[in-house]
This record gives sequence, C-alpha cells and structure tokens, in this order.
Amino acid sequence: PETITVQELANRMAARQGEVIKALMKMGVMATVTQSIDADTAELVVEEFGHRVRRVSEADVELGIEGVEDTTEDMQPRPPVVTIMGHVDHGKTSLLDALRTTDVAAGEAGGITQHIGAYQVTLESGAKITFLDTPGHEAFTAMRARGASITDVVVLVVAADDGVMPQTIEAIKHAKAANVPMIIAINKMDKPGAKPDRVRQDLLQHEIVVESMGGDVMDIEVSARQRMGLDKLEEGILLQAEILELQANPDRAAEGAVIESRLDRGRGSVASVLVQKGTLRKGDIVVAGAEWGRVRALVDDRGRQVEVAGPSMPVEILGLSGVPAAGAPFVVVENENRAREISEFRQRKLKEHQVAGQVAARGTLDQMLA
Ligand code: GTP
Ligand code: MG
Repeated sequence: PETITVQELANRMAARQGEVIKALMKMGVMATVTQSIDADTAELVVEEFGHRVRRVSEADVELGIEGVEDTTEDMQPRPPVVTIMGHVDHGKTSLLDALRTTDVAAGEAGGITQHIGAYQVTLESGAKITFLDTPGHEAFTAMRARGASITDVVVLVVAADDGVMPQTIEAIKHAKAANVPMIIAINKMDKPGAKPDRVRQDLLQHEIVVESMGGDVMDIEVSARQRMGLDKLEEGILLQAEILELQANPDRAAEGAVIESRLDRGRGSVASVLVQKGTLRKGDIVVAGAEWGRVRALVDDRGRQVEVAGPSMPVEILGLSGVPAAGAPFVVVENENRAREISEFRQRKLKEHQVAGQVAARGTLDQMLA
C-alpha cells in the first residue's frame, strides 16, 4: 500500500511538521516525523489543512492539491492536437509548412511567423487544428512517461520513394504505446520513384492495416512540395477528431504542458506551452515544472500578443523565473505563495533525483573498479 512519511507530507503541503503531527493526534494517530502513514490517513490530513487531494502519480500529488474535476456540462469541443512524426527527411517539416499556408489567417497582419514548437491552423470552415512540431518529440516522450498524452492524433509521414524506415517504426511504437490514433501521410507522391503500395505493404508487417487495404487506419497520399492532398489530410484529421469527441472545460484555471522553452536575450524565459484545460490569461500565476512566475505576456504562433489562450491553443509564456523542461506540466495557481511552495518542492525533488543519480552512478563505478 502507498505510504508517506510525516515529514514528506508536511513538505508537500508546505506545513509545519508539528502541525501535521498535531492533526494526526486529533485523529488518534501517534506518529513521529520519520514515521510513515498510509495514503488514506494522509488524505484526511491534507483535507484538514484545507487542500484538495487528487492521487495521480507520486510526482503529481502536490500538483493535485489544485485539482478540479470538470463536470460534463462544463465541457466544450476543442480543436485536435496533432503531432507529425516520421523518418528523417521524409518531409515532416515540409508538410507542416505546407499545411500552415492553408491557414486562412496566414496573410493577416503580416505577422512574422516564429518557431514556438506548435501552431494552430484555421481552415475555411472555421475548424481549427493544432500541430506540434517537437524536435525529437521530447515533449511527446516526456508526457507519455507521465501516462498522459499531449497529442490526440499522430500523422505519420512516410516518403513514398523511401518506404518504412527505422524512425517510422519508432514512431509507430510511440503512437501505439500512447494509444493515439494514427493517420498515414504517404508523402513525396510527385516523385517518379513513388511506390505508395509498397509503403502500405511494409506497414502490414507492423500491424498497421490501412483503409485502402481493408483496415481502419486512414492513409492519404500527399505531396508537400506540390501541395497535393493537403485538404484531404486536414479532412482526415477532423474526421478522426470527431470520432474522439475532444472536449475541455474552458472556464477554469488553465493546465497544460510545456512544448519547449529557452532563454531569450531580450525577453528572458520564453516557454512554449499547450493549453489543455481552462483558459490561460495574462497576469495569471503559473507553475511550470520547477519554475514559476506571473504571466507578463502571452504570444501566439504568429508573434502577436494575446490576452487569453483557451484549450488546444499553443502560446508562449513570458515571465517565468527560469526555463522549464520540455514535457513538464504547467498549472495556474491562486497566488504567489502557492506557486513558490510548489516550485520549491519540485526544485528539492529535482536535487534529490540528481543526488540519487550520482549515488547510483558512483555505485556502478565502484562495482566497475572492484
Ligand atoms: P528531418 O526534420 O531532418 O527529420 O526531415 P523532415 O522529415 O522534416 O523532412 P524535410 O521536410 O526537411 O524534407 C526533406 C527533403 O525532402 C527536403 O529536401 C524537401 O524539399 C524534400 N521533400 C519534402 N516533401 C517533399 C515532397 O512532397 N516531394 C518532393 N519531391 N520532395 C519533398
Ligand atoms: Mg524537419
């Protein structure tokens, strides 16, 4: 069964150990700081301190204190979040660029497009699709490790002249492990050496049966260069999204994930995030991974300052204390003290991990020397 030491519990709530011991005594439990108590007792204590509990994973417990459950009435449709994956040079970036030019807002305002690792396309119908362009798919992997998926649909790009390659297989494994539906984009159809049927055949070996072979995985022939098949691909994505019935509650404190982040010379910490729930606002207090800060500005994928960002919207956050890791969760909290507590807790956890890592490394080194 899950247990937690009194010390750890006090740390997580940023409460005094004495106060926790007192609360336990009131409940008839006598424990010292180093003793462990079970999860149910801990939950009662947490509630006694006026926090809410949501048991997710060990790393998320302190985050869960902010947890709010959404009811079905609160839910509203949200755009799909799509990650483009595939083997090197099969045309992922070219396809993303081509799709991006289908954006009806593309010509607007002459905004210089910037790389924020994610962007949103608005189709003529008004439907929106969010695309993630995560180098090495770091965020994707990190989120998968947390048991949460950042993406709703994977578009797997396979070059028709090159076929299924090692990273194609890698991407298939990722998508399957994350239980995310795939759409196969057979790219470079303009090339004389294009062999789309060979791609379909090769995919069979990886237990992917495409629609044109009687299976249920969508396969769409495209050419990023000739801008062919793009509307079909977009239709396919929206169809898949419809099946998934993607929803989120926009009327709550925002939660989401960090796509990538960097230190900008002029602007300081810049974190590209994807809002997954709620609405993020300028002025909100955000904890992202082990960093926190008040949102000084929100910048969209066209470099425009915005006041709010709702579900599935990618946006840059300016104003964090440091650079959070790709894949780290972010959450809006009620005040600066709370943000500081969570961030300090996480900084401490990170250090513990590092120390543990060093000890483990030394252990293996000692073994090697022995
Ligand atoms: P990495 O990011 O390095 O993994 O590559 P990528 O998958 O993003 O491929 P990228 O878009 O950079 O394209 C690789 C090469 O293929 C470039 O020279 C593109 O011009 C070319 N290419 C991409 N799509 C097409 C296409 O539809 N037809 C043809 N003929 N060439 C294409
Ligand atoms: Mg690329």
